[in-house]
Amino acid sequence: DKQRRFPDDFLFGAATAAYQIEGGWNEDGKGESIWDYVVHNNPAYIKDLSNGDIAADSYHNYKRDVEIMRELNLNAYRFSIAWSRVLPTGMINNVNQAGIDFYNNYIDEMLKYNITPLITLYHWDLPQKLHELGGFTNPLFADWFSDYARLVFQSFGDRVKHFITFNEPREICYEGYGTDTKPPIVNNTAIGTYLCAKHLVIAHAKAYHMYDKEFRPTQGGQCGITISVNWFGPDTDSDDDKLAAEITRQGEWGIYAHPIFSAEGGFPKELSERVAKKSAEQGYSKSRMPEFTEEEKALVRGASDFFGVNHYSASLTSATEHKVPHPVPSLMDDIDSGTYTPDEWPKSSSSWLTFAPNSLYNALTHLNTRYNKPVFYITENGWSTSNDRGLIDDDRIAYYRAALENVLDLLDDGVNLKGYMAWSLFDNFEWNAGYTERLGLYNVDFEDPARTRTAKKSAFVYKHIVTHRYIDHDYEPEAMI
Ligand code: BGC
Repeated sequence: DKQRRFPDDFLFGAATAAYQIEGGWNEDGKGESIWDYVVHNNPAYIKDLSNGDIAADSYHNYKRDVEIMRELNLNAYRFSIAWSRVLPTGMINNVNQAGIDFYNNYIDEMLKYNITPLITLYHWDLPQKLHELGGFTNPLFADWFSDYARLVFQSFGDRVKHFITFNEPREICYEGYGTDTKPPIVNNTAIGTYLCAKHLVIAHAKAYHMYDKEFRPTQGGQCGITISVNWFGPDTDSDDDKLAAEITRQGEWGIYAHPIFSAEGGFPKELSERVAKKSAEQGYSKSRMPEFTEEEKALVRGASDFFGVNHYSASLTSATEHKVPHPVPSLMDDIDSGTYTPDEWPKSSSSWLTFAPNSLYNALTHLNTRYNKPVFYITENGWSTSNDRGLIDDDRIAYYRAALENVLDLLDDGVNLKGYMAWSLFDNFEWNAGYTERLGLYNVDFEDPARTRTAKKSAFVYKHIVTHRYIDHDYEPEAMI
């Protein structure tokens, strides 16, 4: 539909994360992160036994990265700071100037070409030294994070106006502390997710208030958080399935969003009631889920200028049929429902990523109602293909076109959505999957020491949309035919 256009001031960009692209894992004074530690000490943890020691080598290729942004006509780029590159131990006593310089150069290169930088402060690479002190399970976490956040605001906030404190609390807490899916592999199924969730949202809120008081008056930017919101619909129209879907949504993202974006604050009661009930069944007279004091609730409530959404996929939730039983006891046992994807939904090369054409629309519409119309940015959205697929990625194109139609529908509905970042600008280290799953608009040749980047067909299509501000479903990039 050529009539439906994206607004001119809409931020149209792409996203990456430090550990996935930078390499230079111990260069110029960078300290060790939990990912460095795990890939070096437990290599079998990564599917192809690879690591991010060099990755796409953006530490040396950042000018080429910015050139790609220009090739695509992007007006925004979301990237993350490696905490241990600027603070090797995680703590503030030892600032690594070479790390600050690297990010300054990256930012200045973007600004030369009017590309708006968005900084994520934490995209999963906790300094290992802080992990040794308990990481997110230590109530002091908020103090460490505040010191780091102040350094980031002070160093870059004169030029950067969009800060995202945390990328995907669910993946940090549930996968890192509630199961053994991600570093630091603290498999505390009974309380890990909940402890981490509480400390994380408090750390977010403290950083937000610091920004608001100490930096916003002179820098004038915004500070928010990015939460992964995949869509969970009911399997059938039964009340039980609807309730199961709601509780699943609360366990997946409400646990992080409700304390910040709801009017009442604290953990969502659908979930805390469920955990209390399970705890009682297990013989605990108090719930395993920690509570927020009234003071903590007030600190966290409303502490965000925007809601960053990472969205990829959808599933159906059933109250009765646990079609995919969870492999380890976890938050999912407290939630006690089964989620699955129907066979006919197209699959990507990542097991968790299936194509459900209206999932982005459903997710944002739900959030918009439940949290009273916040400002949104879509901070990640994308599709995964295997590493032997070459440059022709028609399935990725279909995915992006459908997702961006959803964005236009949301804008038509008056949802306050200000930007969209594709994941990812180029292929990178896909965490536990190593280099076997690729989500880039550009291919990266990881065999080549120069890490040559080459546009995939989807890059041309995305460029066409970004440039013309509408979706032409018939467009075929000449260069690729
Ligand atoms: C993460 C990215 C990751 C992407 C695809 C998101 O959960 O924020 O770092 O590469 O999903 O798996």
